[in-house]
Amino acid sequence: MNILLIGSGGREHTLAWKINQSNKLTRLFIAPGNAGTASLGENVDIKVDDFEMLGKFAFEHKIDMIVVGPEVPLVKGIHDYFSESRELSQIAVIGPQKRGAMLEGSKKFANEFMLRNNIPTAKFISISKNNIEEGLKYFESTPPPFVLKADGLAAGKGVVILDDAGKAKEELKLMLEGKFGESSKTVVIEEFLKGIEISIFALTDGQSYKILPEAKDYKRIGENDTGLNTGGMGAVSPVPFADKIFLDRIEKRIIKPTIQGLIKENIVYKGFLYFGLINCDGNPYVIEYNVRMGDPEAEVVIPRMECDLLDLFDGVANNSLAEKQLGIDIRSVATVMLVSGGYPGSYDKGKEISNLNEVKDSIVFHAGTKKVDGKIITNGGRVISISSYGKDFRDALSNSYKAAEIINFEKKYYRRDIGFDL
Ligand code: AMP
Ligand code: GLY
Repeated sequence: MNILLIGSGGREHTLAWKINQSNKLTRLFIAPGNAGTASLGENVDIKVDDFEMLGKFAFEHKIDMIVVGPEVPLVKGIHDYFSESRELSQIAVIGPQKRGAMLEGSKKFANEFMLRNNIPTAKFISISKNNIEEGLKYFESTPPPFVLKADGLAAGKGVVILDDAGKAKEELKLMLEGKFGESSKTVVIEEFLKGIEISIFALTDGQSYKILPEAKDYKRIGENDTGLNTGGMGAVSPVPFADKIFLDRIEKRIIKPTIQGLIKENIVYKGFLYFGLINCDGNPYVIEYNVRMGDPEAEVVIPRMECDLLDLFDGVANNSLAEKQLGIDIRSVATVMLVSGGYPGSYDKGKEISNLNEVKDSIVFHAGTKKVDGKIITNGGRVISISSYGKDFRDALSNSYKAAEIINFEKKYYRRDIGFDL
């Protein structure tokens, strides 16, 4: 099979690493990719949402399957673009169509979907300029904290949690005025759920599904979960508190009703589903759906999958996922993200990364990297994700931390407390 993988982060390097091991692979292209993916396939300089160029490339290179890493092209309708074109409709797309991608593309849609399908989530109200009074009143009649979410995609920045009703009112007004552009013209206000978070993943062909290993990621920039939110600073899998009883509850109360809800609502969904959950005293609640793998969760989940990933994807495309086998490696995998100093605020790019080849006991997944004149340089906030196996997450982490010392670039930063709360 000829594969075109879309994206350029650590998640995509991990997907490329796994796809590269498949017996079914003929050629692998990555658009746009990074310095890591370039060692596993051929990078193609096309933006993730330039559907016309991606379509042209796919047609000319006889691509059999597109694997979509990030959410933006899915929410913008890359799958629909391919299936609606006569020339491209034979190409399989791993990732939902636009309607399914609304589970991530609109918080209001996702919350209403969960309400219709009896899936446990926070109580919520949706506010736009027309009913702003309802929102303002809510803050007076409800105890804090207040959770405000921009309805649309906001690159991980669209959730604001506040303790003060006055500040919440101000924030609501700012958001409706367009603080996050079109994304916050509608704001969802949610009940605050208290508990510990966990990320759960499934792969589905629209009928059957496979549950992938669970993970926990660490989103804040600072140790002890302090400071600004980032894309993710590290992750571990498995998650010690996710025992069989809890995981069974998740399947019964959340995964099954989600798949069945999609079927009932005639939403054909092919691809990854990511359930961002909160464990409230042993009861799982959904705080968000994503329509892709997580990043850096992919860097710990995919190394634990014992399968030919293209064979699984083939099952997704051809409605035969139920016949495929997915084994799970019982070892732990942990990943530590090396980021550019200043991230998630402003930071420099173009710093040379040294000692990448000195790492022996870990897998080095590239995120924001680029190869220029034979040198590998930083090209983003999140730079390198170091994943390691171990007998438990502490053991795995100690390998990743050894490698984090070895790899170097100017103003390198990483959290030294991944897993601190487990
Ligand atoms: P999101 O961008 O949807 O991942 O949300 C960012 C973070 O906000 C999550 O990781 C949670 O820590 C927090 N969060 C979102 N929704 C809620 C909620 N209803 N109650 C408590 N915390 C929440
Ligand atoms: N690590 C969180 C995400 O991928 O959304």
